[in-house]
Amino acid sequence: MCGIIGYVGQQPAVPIVLEGLSQLLYRGYDSAGVSGLISPGVLRIVKQVLPDGQFDDFKAKVEDSRFPESCTNAIGHTRWATHGGRTVLNAHPHCDGSGQIAVVHNGMLENWRELKAELIGLGCRIVSETDTELIAHLFALKLQETKGDIRQAILSTVSSLQGANGILLQYARYPDLLIGIRKGSPLSYAKLDDGAFMVASTGDPFLPYTRRCKHLRDGDIIIIQGGKVEEFSFHNGRRIPVSIPSVELEGSAEDVALEGYPHFMLKEIMTQPERLPDVLGGRLRLETGLVKLGGLEASSLALKKLKRAKHFWFIGCGTSYHAAQIVARMFRQHLHVHAEAKQASEVTLDDILSGCSPGRSVVFALSQSGETKDLLDAIEYLRARGVGLVAGIVNVVGSSLVTLTDGAGVYLRVGPEIGVASTKAFSSQVLVGAMITVWLAQQRGQLSPDQSIPFVRAIAEIPEQLRVVLAQSEAIRKLAEYIMKFTSLMMLGRGYHYATALEGHLKVVEVSNMACEVQPAGEMKHGPLALVTDGYPVVMVATRDSSRTAILHNISELQARGAFVIGITTDGDTEMAKIVNQAIYIPDTPPELATILAATSLQLLAYHLGLLNERNVDKPRNLAKAVTVK
Ligand code: M6R
Repeated sequence: MCGIIGYVGQQPAVPIVLEGLSQLLYRGYDSAGVSGLISPGVLRIVKQVLPDGQFDDFKAKVEDSRFPESCTNAIGHTRWATHGGRTVLNAHPHCDGSGQIAVVHNGMLENWRELKAELIGLGCRIVSETDTELIAHLFALKLQETKGDIRQAILSTVSSLQGANGILLQYARYPDLLIGIRKGSPLSYAKLDDGAFMVASTGDPFLPYTRRCKHLRDGDIIIIQGGKVEEFSFHNGRRIPVSIPSVELEGSAEDVALEGYPHFMLKEIMTQPERLPDVLGGRLRLETGLVKLGGLEASSLALKKLKRAKHFWFIGCGTSYHAAQIVARMFRQHLHVHAEAKQASEVTLDDILSGCSPGRSVVFALSQSGETKDLLDAIEYLRARGVGLVAGIVNVVGSSLVTLTDGAGVYLRVGPEIGVASTKAFSSQVLVGAMITVWLAQQRGQLSPDQSIPFVRAIAEIPEQLRVVLAQSEAIRKLAEYIMKFTSLMMLGRGYHYATALEGHLKVVEVSNMACEVQPAGEMKHGPLALVTDGYPVVMVATRDSSRTAILHNISELQARGAFVIGITTDGDTEMAKIVNQAIYIPDTPPELATILAATSLQLLAYHLGLLNERNVDKPRNLAKAVTVK
């Protein structure tokens, strides 16, 4: 949530920061701003509200501002508003009263009220409604207190900040200085070949320049000055030198480019047949049925806990929660254990471990970004209650979630996801969940590799089977046109496909802003059926599985009231195809994997509904990609 970026080196900094900002827009697009150090002691700041998330006007405004080529130190920000409305005044960067210190910030100061009162009491004039501005004033005061000692001032500033924050700071007195702080919100930096430095809230903007970077750990601070970087951590107000490990960046510059697609959402849906094999690569032995998951096997302690565990919790938010529901069901079906999914935001409000032995409970945390605040809080809450093991199912390497696990987990390896709507991440989460299910059944001696062969092969077939779904994009667009005659629609499914329907519903609401009712199909007649009028569109996930007979009844009940039923049906199920008013076909596969194929058809439906409703499908209204606030 919020994207921050900075550059200091020998090149004109503003174009580099602008380019990086355009890649960070998915993290927040309420407003954008840059600050360039145009001469010692002088910062030039340009900021603007982004109408409908559009970046081009802002870019033109920055270009018109004619930052000199000699401006080689700049910071930038894309905002997802937390404190204060979407106004230019609230857009970052924010300055102290002297205009010498500029700050961009991702996160939330939990003690902003107290801090604001204190700063006002000390004579600071706060002009915006943001918590970020307070950081600039605070640092300025600390500089005065320490007689200009930057290191002491930064330590003292950081000690006064509560909450999860990632901060980048410029001080105009030193044209070669950038300060980065990670205290709860992500921050990474890279040294480029020419000795320049880039700092950003994710490594993606570095990709055109380098493949290596360093992800700051919680509490790490970097001071870049004079072409050198000082890495340290703070403990009780003391500065401890650290060495942040350097890592290889995942993905490539192509991953963060549209490559001919009109939208990232479409690109990320359509390229799944090429990306998902990376999720499976090296993990499945098709001949023997063996599943190998290095991230869960490496630690013998983690492995022991997984084998002995009695309770499994799958936690996530939004799309990741829907994937968690599917994986929990797979665990119940294949491992016959107590397994439940829970929205991370609810975990801290509910004693979910009640009646469980905490030490024999395992938590799997699912996340694309690995930065979702509710999820990180839930992990800390469960850990404090003695949960035996925390493992991650995550896409972004080096994210905060990874550092909170017990060194156990499985990366999605599906490449950067730029569209705010999660698409390929959902598919890969379910695929990884299916692999973990078989792997653990093998580890616990519940399934021999030999017995696993059919399911393992079914997993491996998913990327190719998706092509059949994607080929129906035009037919799905026509269905979207039909749905446009109504102001809302309904989405239904049973068993595994209730989670599929939930996921389809989330995509439609998020991307097209259309009202969509979602229910387990059997619940429809207990209330939502009242919505059905003549021709009313109902999407029914109706694949060939144990719920088929009940689904056939539900379809009759709906059609008897005039509903137009769009069935997501199994290819070859001619009876079902004839009964529904319009069919979308998915290839035959076990129901737990059919969730991926069916959800992908719903991703396409949401995409087309978004376009027909003239929505910005990559940057849905009011949302951002990584939700790093409560
Ligand atoms: O990065 P995460 O997977 O933790 O994000 C969780 C949700 O914020 C995310 O899935 C959100 O619901 C998507 N925008 C849905 O498309």
